[in-house]
Amino acid sequence: MGVSGSLRAASLNTRFLHALSLACPQHIVFHIYDKLGSIPPFNVDADEKPPKAVLDWKAFLEQSDMIVLASPEYAHGISGVLKNALDWLVSDYQLLARPIAFPNISVRASIAQKQMEEILNTMGFSVIDSCSPRASTNAPLINPDLSAEEIAAHPILSLQLTAFWKAVSNFLIERAL
Ligand SMILES: Cc1cc2nc3c(=O)[nH]c(=O)nc-3n(C[C@H](O)[C@H](O)[C@H](O)COP(=O)(O)O)c2cc1C
Repeated sequence: MGVSGSLRAASLNTRFLHALSLACPQHIVFHIYDKLGSIPPFNVDADEKPPKAVLDWKAFLEQSDMIVLASPEYAHGISGVLKNALDWLVSDYQLLARPIAFPNISVRASIAQKQMEEILNTMGFSVIDSCSPRASTNAPLINPDLSAEEIAAHPILSLQLTAFWKAVSNFLIERAL
């Protein structure tokens, strides 16, 4: 299950998830959650009877063998909408054991990456490093001038997508053994 931390229509993180979807092998089903903006601000008073949007968010994640988060860095932090959505999960022990990956498509955003790791580890998610590629100048994950389709067909960028899915397949196979 893929989740973009950006609500922006032209979001590069969302585009990366769409490129992943296009490159997804047949034996894996990949869905992208696109309702992050409908989740109300977290209120612990409402945690026992959460609003429908939160129930839908949890139901989406419950179907996952792995959650893939792609978030922009805003003012040296992860996106507020994503942090808000994660806060609604803190009391949900069943969800928190899930494997989670967080690729970083930005070559300069490293502070939010560390913050994300801290948050996910604190919440009790099982963070899968092998499925969390980090873009570098020599090994970019996207090109902002290209569409998701063009990224998926690109001779070099497509290799990154394939490598991601190989790592996911390996993880899921090893876990099943
Ligand atoms: C309000 C704001 C704050 C930002 N702060 C940072 C930052 O601290 N570090 C960084 O590397 N990029 C920062 N950026 C750049 C975004 O991370 C970048 O535009 C990213 O592509 C946005 O994600 P999206 O394309 O998925 O919407 C900021 C952008 C905005 C609009």
